[in-house]
Amino acid sequence: MSTSSLADKTFHVITYGCQMNKHDSERIVGMLTSWNAREVSTIEEAEIVVFMTCCVREAADIRLKGQVASLKNIPLPQGSHLKKRIVAIGGCIGQRDKEQLEVELPHVDIVFGTFNLGDLPALLEEIITEGGQRVSVLDSASSFPTDLPTKREHEWAAWLPISIGCNNFCTYCIVPYVRGREKSRTMEDILTEAQGLIDDGVKEITLLGQNVNSYGRDIYGSPHFAQLLHRIADLGVERIRFATSHPKDLNDEVIRAFATLPNVMPALHLPVQSGSNTILKEMNRRYTREHYLEIVAKLRDVRPDIALSTDVIVGFPGEREEDFQDTYSLIDEVGYNQVFTFIYSKREGTPAASMVDNTPHDVIQSRFDSLVDLVQKRAFEMNLRYNHQNLEVLFESLSKRDKTILTGRSPHNITVHVPLPEGKTLSDFQGKILSVDIEETKTWYLKGQLTHE
Ligand code: SAH
Ligand code: SF4
Ligand code: F3S
Repeated sequence: MSTSSLADKTFHVITYGCQMNKHDSERIVGMLTSWNAREVSTIEEAEIVVFMTCCVREAADIRLKGQVASLKNIPLPQGSHLKKRIVAIGGCIGQRDKEQLEVELPHVDIVFGTFNLGDLPALLEEIITEGGQRVSVLDSASSFPTDLPTKREHEWAAWLPISIGCNNFCTYCIVPYVRGREKSRTMEDILTEAQGLIDDGVKEITLLGQNVNSYGRDIYGSPHFAQLLHRIADLGVERIRFATSHPKDLNDEVIRAFATLPNVMPALHLPVQSGSNTILKEMNRRYTREHYLEIVAKLRDVRPDIALSTDVIVGFPGEREEDFQDTYSLIDEVGYNQVFTFIYSKREGTPAASMVDNTPHDVIQSRFDSLVDLVQKRAFEMNLRYNHQNLEVLFESLSKRDKTILTGRSPHNITVHVPLPEGKTLSDFQGKILSVDIEETKTWYLKGQLTHE
């Protein structure tokens, strides 16, 4: 591949959306690097710009169009032999809009989809040598795309996809239309990649899927997520996390894994979306408020210190004040360490897009604001549990605001700040797990001192 026309071309990848997209971007960087192209950290330095896009809410769509349009005014880096900067759009908007994107944004050279990111290097080569525009989007994945090289963002942490796609069709959600039906990867394949990551020094593996709890149903006939967790835990990696969990499929075996497998971290993202049974039904979530609360009780029973996080949608079509109050009281009752709150965004092509939606925007906004206040209050209260505890922290970086502060994450996935010891640098700590005595708690982080300096 050394004769490739991609050799020595500079590229920059801009990523929106979820961890799945971020991981796809790591694969793009890995692939283009293996074709001898060179990653750069700004658009200005890049001859090729790749956008990995998200369309889960309208805001992300709008932002993409603006950013792509503004590229026209940025000159190519000096010394480039290209006539113009190459712009490629992949990810979920590429998958959804296909040819239409090149109509709306005529200076886009390549549109590719979520199922064929492996085709990007060859598409880029064609554009470099032949010019023109290319649209290459498949309707589904023929198999699980596993053999693409990956360049990890961090040496010590890795995302490991175990399934792609989603079969749940929550009525508000575009994801099943742009990521296709759920396809699991074989256990052997996952274990081989996990072992490779561990051999490479990875300390934290995050298993990824739109709904990890139904992992294996398509290839083994029943969910095999608990079995998978056990097998990965047996490999001996320090930290295992996973996302995302659909409450309807979180079974007792997986709940028990939080107690029996010490390397499964005590943190769980369990999207609830709404606390109202009426709205949950309209959303096609297939669990009730009562069932969700029962899961939370079981989790806290086996792992009392578990940190929970969730996603909530405010202003789903037809949400009445009493429905919102049910959400509010559920958030208060559960006590989350983190809640991602979203205002409902209509997505064309989803069932909710044709539901009657007549709640005034200012009503939705004030519900949203009151929920955000509650979320902050409860997150602070939940963090108080960790005060004066000794926690193992995986160190990652220096604080953006203060370069004398080291930051890392506790087993509960909460950010921890400690002063950087005198005479030491980030590299003395990065990727290491060390104990910290927690001395103070804030809403979104904990402060402490290294136990042994
Ligand atoms: N598979 C994951 C992630 C889905 S997208 C899961 O099921 O949790 C992440 C979050 O975006 C969802 O949990 C939901 O809260 C939010 N979301 C999805 N579609 C939305 C929409 N149309 N409007 C507002 N928020 C939405
Ligand atoms: Fe979307 Fe629901 Fe699937 Fe999550 S489980 S990706 S919210 S359809
Ligand atoms: Fe967005 Fe696609 Fe993920 S729509 S949330 S990037 S699956």
